[in-house]
Amino acid sequence: LRDHVFQLARQRKSVRKYSDENVNMDDLYYAIRTALEAPSGANRQPWRFILVRDEYTKRRIRDTCEYWERRFHGSTTLPKWFADWLRSRGITWRKSFLTEAPVLIAVAADTTAPYWKESTWLSIGYLLLALEERGLASLTYTPTNPRAVAELLGIPRNYSLECIIPVGKAAEDKVKEARRGLEKTVYIDLWGRPALSLEEGKADSS
Ligand SMILES: Cc1cc2nc3c(=O)[nH]c(=O)nc-3n(C[C@H](O)[C@H](O)[C@H](O)COP(=O)(O)O)c2cc1C
Repeated sequence: LRDHVFQLARQRKSVRKYSDENVNMDDLYYAIRTALEAPSGANRQPWRFILVRDEYTKRRIRDTCEYWERRFHGSTTLPKWFADWLRSRGITWRKSFLTEAPVLIAVAADTTAPYWKESTWLSIGYLLLALEERGLASLTYTPTNPRAVAELLGIPRNYSLECIIPVGKAAEDKVKEARRGLEKTVYIDLWGRPALSLEEGKADSS
């Protein structure tokens, strides 16, 4: 299917409100199998995934995250542009998606592997697109105090909890956040040299 990956990437957006409809475990494993195909430094495959479905565990994760988020959102060192951005999107210390989504995927990375962070986030990128393909909404939520959540899940000290991904059916519909176009992000041969116009880009790829 031509443009398939592009179409998935284009329609995919972060979802912060979930219905309680269950997710099909086959779809979940399909997405994880896709993530396992990502490249990684020295092929060490530093990623690990914990699928959290247990209501009690989700509740404890939410409580822990919200405790630290309250401090973060109340912090006076938060840059103004960031505080404004959060407010305009209605993002507060409340993380209801952590109990509302039927499944959370906690992603941990082996910090003894080379390029463990880059590699793990690449696999997360693969995961998000595969979830989208199966009609599943997601969010890369990065907790304020990842170690507190890692301890709760029994993650060893040499692993870093990189994010928690709620997965489920979207219970909100919003316009996708705008992206900067090709002409503002791609240079040719030299930094700052005007890139292809979008039209030329299209002509090139056909
Ligand atoms: C590394 C990373 C960390 C993020 N952390 C959070 C987070 O902690 N909470 C949150 O609500 N969204 C988080 N996001 C989601 C971004 O806010 C979102 O991707 C961005 O605003 C673009 O919106 P879209 O994904 O809907 O296109 C994170 C995204 C990335 C890539």
